[in-house]
Amino acid sequence: VITVPVRLGQRSYDVLVGEGARHRLLEVLPVGVARAAVVTQPSVGVEVDPGVPSTTVLMGEGEPAKDLEAVEELCRAFSRFGLARTDVVVAVGGGVVTDTAGFAAASYHRGVPVVHVPTTLLGQVDAAIGGKTGVNLPEGKNLVGAFWPPAAVVCDTDLLASLPEREWRCGNGEMAKYHFLTGDDLLALPLEDRIARCVAIKAAVVAADPEERTGLRATLNYGHTLGHALEVAGRFDLRHGEAVAIGLVFAAELAAELGRIDPARVAEHRAVIDAYGLDPSVPPGLDHEELLMLMARDKKALGTLTFVLDGPAGVELVSGVEPAAVRAALARMEAAG
Ligand SMILES: NC(=O)c1ccc[n+]([C@@H]2O[C@H](COP(=O)([O-])OP(=O)(O)OC[C@H]3O[C@@H](n4cnc5c(N)ncnc54)[C@H](O)[C@@H]3O)[C@@H](O)[C@H]2O)c1
Repeated sequence: VITVPVRLGQRSYDVLVGEGARHRLLEVLPVGVARAAVVTQPSVGVEVDPGVPSTTVLMGEGEPAKDLEAVEELCRAFSRFGLARTDVVVAVGGGVVTDTAGFAAASYHRGVPVVHVPTTLLGQVDAAIGGKTGVNLPEGKNLVGAFWPPAAVVCDTDLLASLPEREWRCGNGEMAKYHFLTGDDLLALPLEDRIARCVAIKAAVVAADPEERTGLRATLNYGHTLGHALEVAGRFDLRHGEAVAIGLVFAAELAAELGRIDPARVAEHRAVIDAYGLDPSVPPGLDHEELLMLMARDKKALGTLTFVLDGPAGVELVSGVEPAAVRAALARMEAAG
């Protein structure tokens, strides 16, 4: 089992990555914890033993279950169980569970510690790391939330054995993103090292910009601007990681359009996406003007069209991008098929 530290001063925590890591849960619980509330979903099917008296609280499935009603249900269940501020919430599941349980933990009694046990690849390399928690509103995704760093994260690679093919693809979309942030050939690494490396890349960014104030943390959104727009315009037919994969290739085409990178670098983006088994084509039938409008509404948009783009200085936040360049990049995507 590999230990990756996330250095946040007094709120530093460890991420354990490896086969059977879940059996080390008791070791990473905060000192003095008397009880644990384990939050999970019926479909996850993973049992953990926190080693202290515990209750299991089930939440609903899928993105629609990640809402304020779920937070209320969880907090009420914590209260009925008698969970105290010195106890712990253990979130066992994919990003839907860790985001929702994490936010409930941030809110209940004004904050109880949470330990994440992510059970999807996307959760292990991304969603459970970094302390962002939150839920959706009918008006949009992740609109209510809190920065609430976990006390620890336990990424047990054994748990991934039951993941359906599509969930692997979703995690691979985020992994491909890390590939471009550092240039590491992650695919050359065994799975455990690959996950640990992704965690370490995210940990370094999060430690340098924990609350997304300097623009550095925004680079973790590489590929996400078109990705989010595709998810919304396509009414969520595309899963997040699949949409990010398309968004990464689009970001490369846009960077080339702006003269920031050369065609060989665009080709490299396409080759990496292919190597991860992902499809870079924009689904047919989507209105490019609608995509443009959705991208202009992106959270990091700062009043102008803003993207995370590759360039001579690496991947960085670029604002003031002209709509004409975005249209041209979308046309390049269409031409490439
Ligand atoms: N907080 C963050 O920094 C952050 C980052 C990225 C994504 N997210 C959020 O994460 C969510 C997506 O997470 P996700 O892709 O893990 O989706 P998810 O939580 O819905 O899980 C996907 C599916 O996998 C199933 N599953 C989970 N573990 C399994 C296992 N071991 N074996 C078999 N099936 C299993 C689940 O039941 C679910 O049906 C989104 O809501 C997104 O906004 C958050």
